Amino acid sequence: MSSSDDARKSHDTNPAANQDGMAKGLTNYGDRGFSLFLRKAFIKGAGYTDKALDRPVIGITNTGSAYNPCHGNAPQLIEAVKRGVLMAGGLPMDFPTMSIHESFAQPTSMYLRNLMSMDTEELLRGQPMDAVVLIGGCDKTVPAQLMGAASAGLPAVQLITGSMLTGSHRGERVGACTDCRRYWGKFRAEEIDAEEVAEVNNQLVASVGTCSVMGTASTMACIAEALGMTVPGGASPPAVTADRIRVAEESGTLAVEIARKRLTIDKILTAKAFENAMRVLLAIGGSTNGIVHLTAIAGRLGFEIDLKALDRMGRDTPVLLDLKPSGDHYMEDFHHAGGMATLLRELKPLLHLDALTVTGRTLGEEIEAAGPGFKQDVVRSMSNPIYPQGGIAVLQGNLAPGGAIIKQSAANPKLMEHEGRAVVFENAEDLALRIDSPHLDVNPEDILVLKHIGPKGAAMPEAGYMPIPKKLAMAGVKDMVRISDGRMSGTAFGTIVLHVMPESAIGGPLAYVQNGDRIRLSVANREITLLVSDQELARRMAAAPVQEPVAERGYKKLFLQSVTQADKGVDFDFLMPPLTAGTIPKIK
Ligand code: FES
Repeated sequence: MSSSDDARKSHDTNPAANQDGMAKGLTNYGDRGFSLFLRKAFIKGAGYTDKALDRPVIGITNTGSAYNPCHGNAPQLIEAVKRGVLMAGGLPMDFPTMSIHESFAQPTSMYLRNLMSMDTEELLRGQPMDAVVLIGGCDKTVPAQLMGAASAGLPAVQLITGSMLTGSHRGERVGACTDCRRYWGKFRAEEIDAEEVAEVNNQLVASVGTCSVMGTASTMACIAEALGMTVPGGASPPAVTADRIRVAEESGTLAVEIARKRLTIDKILTAKAFENAMRVLLAIGGSTNGIVHLTAIAGRLGFEIDLKALDRMGRDTPVLLDLKPSGDHYMEDFHHAGGMATLLRELKPLLHLDALTVTGRTLGEEIEAAGPGFKQDVVRSMSNPIYPQGGIAVLQGNLAPGGAIIKQSAANPKLMEHEGRAVVFENAEDLALRIDSPHLDVNPEDILVLKHIGPKGAAMPEAGYMPIPKKLAMAGVKDMVRISDGRMSGTAFGTIVLHVMPESAIGGPLAYVQNGDRIRLSVANREITLLVSDQELARRMAAAPVQEPVAERGYKKLFLQSVTQADKGVDFDFLMPPLTAGTIPKIK
C-alpha cells in the first residue's frame, strides 16, 4: 500500500468507531473527525507516518530530572522501552511528568507525592495512549505513579530505575543511606572528624540509581513486583546493569501486549495482590513508609488496609531478607541471589498464587517459571529467618487511639519493653534548636517525643528518626525510644514509634504530652500508653485546644484541606473513590 493509500485509509477512519491509539481521548472541538484530523496533522510535524500512527500507542513517563540522580538512567531506560515497544508493533510516546527526589523536595517529598500522582493520573487520562510504562524509582515516585495509574484505570507496567551501586570507604563497603546515618552519627559523637565525614560523602552514592539498602525505594520496587505490576525480576537489577536495560526492553514489549489484551490495572491490583504485597513488605523488613504508600494505592481502588489484621499477618510472616538496615546486605546482593523470585519461592505457602500479574500469568506461574533457585545467603529460609516476625508491628493505646507503628526488626530488643520519662519537643524547629544543647535535661532511659510532624502538622517529614541528643551520643548512647506522628526513612534504624494517630496538629493525645510524663512501650503487647489519667488529659485539652494549621492559597491550601491520616495513606480525600471495595487483608 502506498503512503497516500495509508493516508486516505487513516482519514476515512471513523473516530466514533475507533477509540484506540491516536483516536483515544480526543480534544473537544465539537467535531470528532476534525479533532483526529488536527491531532494527526500536528504529530506529523514531528515526521510520523500514518502507518506509525495506526499502531497501539504506549505512553512512557519520563521522570528524568537533573534534580533526581535516582533516575539518572532514565534516558537509557526510555531508549530500551522504546525498542521493546517497536519490536512488539507499538508506537512509543515518552512524555515528562513530575519527578521527586528525597533530598531535593522542600518541605518534604511527601508533600509532593499526591501532586505527582495527580499529574500522572491526568496525563495518562488526558493524552492518547493504550497502555503506559511508568518509570519510577526514588521513594515517592513509584507510589505516586501507581496511585495515579490506578485512578486512570488503563493497562500499565511499572518500570523501576534500579538501585545504585555500593561504594567503599577505607576498606568498608558503604551505601545510601543507612551508612549516611551511621557515619553522620559517628561525626556527631565526634568519633570521626570533618575530613573523614567529607571523604565518606564521596562514597555513599557510588552511581546513579536508588538507595542501595531496604529503604523505601527498594521496598516499593519489591512491592511493585509482588503486586504483579512489573515484568518478573523487575525489582532488583541495579540501575547501571545490562539486566536493568533488558527489563526496560521487556517492559516496552509487555506494554504492547497488555494494550492489545486490554489488561487494565484494576485486574492486577486486586485484594489478593495487595495481600501478597503486605506479606512481602513484612518479609523483606520493608520501610515503614511502604505501609503508608500501599494504603494509598489500595485506597485509589476503594480498598481499606486493616492495620490490626496486618499486625496479625506479621506474627506468622518472618523477615527473610538479609538487607540493611534489618540485616547486612545491599540490593545488588539481593539481585545476585535471584531477586524477588528467590524470596517469593520461600514465601509461597503464605501467598495467593492465583493472583494475576501484568504478564497475563499468575504469580504462582511466574514463580514456577523462575526455576528451582540456587544456594545463596541473602534470602533466608522460613526455618532460619533474620527476625521471627514481620518487620512492622502495629501499636495501640491512649497515646495513639488510631494506632502507631514500629519497625521492630530495626529496633533495639532491649528497648522494646520500656517505660520512661518523656522529653518533649513541640515541633521540628524546637528539636533542632535544643537537641544538642548541653543543658537539655535528658537521660539515656528517657523517651524523646516530637510533635507536629504529622500529615497536617508538617506534611509528614522523615523526622521521626530523631538524633540522639549530642551529650548522650558522645557518651556512647546509640539508641533511645523515640515517638512522633511523623515518618522515618526506610534506611533508618532504632526503637522508633511512628505515624501516631490522630496526629498532634489535629488534637490527637500526642499534642498534650508534657515533659516528665511517663510513657510505656511494649512491643510484645503492641502497646503505647501515656501514663496520665483521662481526667488530666481532658483538662490539658480544654486548657489549650489545638488550632489546626491553615493556608491562604495554592497547593498548600488544597493539601491542608484534603490530606488524610496515615491509616488512609496520607492521600487527598477527594482522590479516593466514594465507594469502598472492602478491607484488606481478609484474614482474621
Ligand atoms: Fe532516591 Fe533514596 S534518595 S531512593
